[in-house]
Amino acid sequence: MKNFELWNPTRLVFGENQLENVAKHIPAGTKNILMVFGGGSIKKNGVYDTVKGALKEYNVIDFSGIEPNPRYETIMKAREVALAENIDFILAVGGGSVIDACKFLCVAIPFTESDPWDIIKKGLGKKVTEAVPFGTVLTLPATGSEMNSGSVVTREGTKEKLAFGGPLCFPKFSVLDPRVVASLPQRQIVNGVTDAFTHVLEQYLTYPAQAPLQDRFAEGILQTLVEIGPQVIANPGDSTVTGNFMWCCTMALNGLIQQGVPTDWATHMIGHELTALFEIDHARTLAIIGPNLYRVMFNNKKDKLVQYGERVWGITEGSEEEKAQATIERTVEFFHSMGIKTKISDYTDNHSDVAKTITSRFEERKWLGLGERGDITLEKVQEIVEMSI
Ligand code: NZQ
Ligand code: ZN
Repeated sequence: MKNFELWNPTRLVFGENQLENVAKHIPAGTKNILMVFGGGSIKKNGVYDTVKGALKEYNVIDFSGIEPNPRYETIMKAREVALAENIDFILAVGGGSVIDACKFLCVAIPFTESDPWDIIKKGLGKKVTEAVPFGTVLTLPATGSEMNSGSVVTREGTKEKLAFGGPLCFPKFSVLDPRVVASLPQRQIVNGVTDAFTHVLEQYLTYPAQAPLQDRFAEGILQTLVEIGPQVIANPGDSTVTGNFMWCCTMALNGLIQQGVPTDWATHMIGHELTALFEIDHARTLAIIGPNLYRVMFNNKKDKLVQYGERVWGITEGSEEEKAQATIERTVEFFHSMGIKTKISDYTDNHSDVAKTITSRFEERKWLGLGERGDITLEKVQEIVEMSI
């Protein structure tokens, strides 16, 4: 196990009826809250009214219209409102996109040195010294953004989708009330299962690192998602099941399971390009790329593939090679069983130059060696993307 330092300051407030208590967690002295949300799902499912009711003692200004895969351009409009209204606290009410938008917004508001896009583009996320505090009300279990300091923002003008993050981007609190899952379309539920599942694989499916506890945390999340994923799809109104689902998604990316172990994240980096280019849902890009990345990087990942196959899928027959292969196929079947398609051509016909476009972008950004060993070269990226068409 490698050395590590674990710090996570987000207060996680879990359970039924916690929406009604959101005001308890707003920092003392707050006057003007900017409530940021998406395209209106919270108005249809009652979350908006409940949260607004709970915050009746505060001056709350709405900012709606954050898109899935939040746009820099829209967040900059929110920044103008925040400055004009003297906002001293931000409340994100939504899924990963709304939360990620607020992470950028909170550091962009006080940033005056240059265009706030530089925070992302020039990697200043860890250097910024000021941020407006924010909390979240999660409405879509998937990304883990509610308890981490990362964010992914898209710039419409250049079709770039880039991640950034820093210590000031942890939410002060996040409210996880499982009742919110009831209104989610099935598409978003299966996206959530797939995203969380792949988050675990990015931090687990690397090489053995003498970290048996992290391995078992990871396998526990995978096994729980396999068990309850279909139950959530069948019964999104069952708060017992959906609460466990929420907790899996948070635990998959709140920093715990990555401590002391190597991590990959190349599936995400390639996947983000597919969303930027074709607007394919984030989770679906992972189901497209992940299995092909495991095929191309098979030798690197074989030992962990065997362990994952044995412990999560009960694959015990055959040689190590055969077990590792069967594990990849079983993972693809899992995605298919939830209705997730795993080829780029299932989503777009406009894919003739996709591998070249992605490798050129990576070359420009000097992303020349990705993955846990830094050996996913541009040639390997090209091979993975071509296999995925
Ligand atoms: O906009 P509204 O009307 O709210 O509708 C949303 C949106 O259309 C809807 N929705 C959310 N909660 C709902 C609901 N509909 C009905 N009932 C509810 N309770 O769902 C749609 C998708 O929402 P979105 O927030 O885009 O989905 P998700 O949570 O999957 O977030 C995806 C974004 O997060 C980034 C992705 O790249 C993508 O931009 N990620 C962020 C990460 C992080 N910060 O740690 C890690 C992830 O790997 C990921 O990259
Ligand atoms: Zn993800």
